[in-house]
Amino acid sequence: MKSIVGIVTGLLLFAAFTTTSFAQDKAALMAKGQKVYNEYCKTCHQANGQGLGAAFPPLAKSDYLKNTPMAQIIKEVVNGKSGKMKVNGKEYNGVMAPLPKKYTDEDIAGVVTYVYNSFGNSGPVVKPADVKKHKKK
Ligand code: HEC
Repeated sequence: MKSIVGIVTGLLLFAAFTTTSFAQDKAALMAKGQKVYNEYCKTCHQANGQGLGAAFPPLAKSDYLKNTPMAQIIKEVVNGKSGKMKVNGKEYNGVMAPLPKKYTDEDIAGVVTYVYNSFGNSGPVVKPADVKKHKKK
């Protein structure tokens, strides 16, 4: 009996711990990501991710962001992107320069997590390990 109580308590503690640490991971990434966004991405994609005119596509409720695999989004944010594309039915044909080298895998994980989970979007949490794995061209 005692050992069952011990096992159950152990499992509950384990579940509580993993849930909490996941929530903390996400909160930390979101905070870091917001900083990077405001410092760098905001100039083009604007404060609420709404984009600007015909030049800069929106990130808010972007169907492209939602329907493109995470690995591809990481690659494009890191290495830049150019050429014709459609976002929410509107055509764009611009150039997004590669991300400045000073940003770490953690910064990148943060900013992609931030855009995935801000401006009315809801998406995955991106880990620094995902960035490391997918950032190469
Ligand atoms: C100098 C302007 C500029 C900056 C800074 C910039 N972008 Fe972009 N971004 C663009 C342009 C222009 C495109 C469209 C490229 C094309 O037409 O192929 C784009 C496209 C995108 C797309 C895919 C299209 C969409 O709207 O869903 C994502 C996602 C994105 N940017 C995320 C980011 C993130 C995250 C940052 C900051 C780390 C960032 N961008 C910084 C100009 C910029």
